[in-house]
Amino acid sequence: MKIFIDSADIGEIKEAAAMGAIDGVTTNPSLLAKTGRGLKDTIVEICEVVDGPISAEVIATDTQGILTEGRELAALHKNVVVKVPLIIDGLKAVRQLTTEGIKTNVTLCFSPSQALLAAKAGATMISPFVGRLDDISMPGMELIEQIIDIYQNYDLSTEVLVASVRHPIHFVESARMGADIATVPLKVIQQLAQHPLTDIGLAKFLEDAKKIPKG
Ligand code: G3P
Repeated sequence: MKIFIDSADIGEIKEAAAMGAIDGVTTNPSLLAKTGRGLKDTIVEICEVVDGPISAEVIATDTQGILTEGRELAALHKNVVVKVPLIIDGLKAVRQLTTEGIKTNVTLCFSPSQALLAAKAGATMISPFVGRLDDISMPGMELIEQIIDIYQNYDLSTEVLVASVRHPIHFVESARMGADIATVPLKVIQQLAQHPLTDIGLAKFLEDAKKIPKG
């Protein structure tokens, strides 16, 4: 499973990239707003740090507006993937962007029927939001299982990108189900590496190391 970092913060992206685990980056307007920096400058800088798919989201909600913004974002760098909301105008835009060879990540997916339509439109990636489903007492990971089943039934090539990942269990379950990608905030990426027995074991080794005679 590929691991993307879900962040628009250059410091966080560099920190995760230094661990060697990062295959790409996803951003969204909320993540960008937190940085206080502009969309295009940030995306160009991220492309210099990570050599992989970098999702940049459109703000327009009508097909023509999405196409205009999508083409501008795609022109920024060869690795940019245009993130488009899963609405009817978005699907129309995805269909057109696909014919132009522009990669798309269809976002805000909350149902298997939406995911099937995105794949039919030619989406490169689909982003089902598992944490936000959990938030309303609907099991987010069940959606991932359903989408993977449906895509496998019809041999659809759209990649399943698990989004709104809130904790390591989302991540591990995604990998067990065979999701193509999980996009993960830095805090959760760090949690993936941590284990209390590792810390206890290391402390004991360091304590015992003091007792080893020199030489
Ligand atoms: O990038 C979209 C998604 O990962 C958002 O996550 O935690 O705001 O639901 P969250």
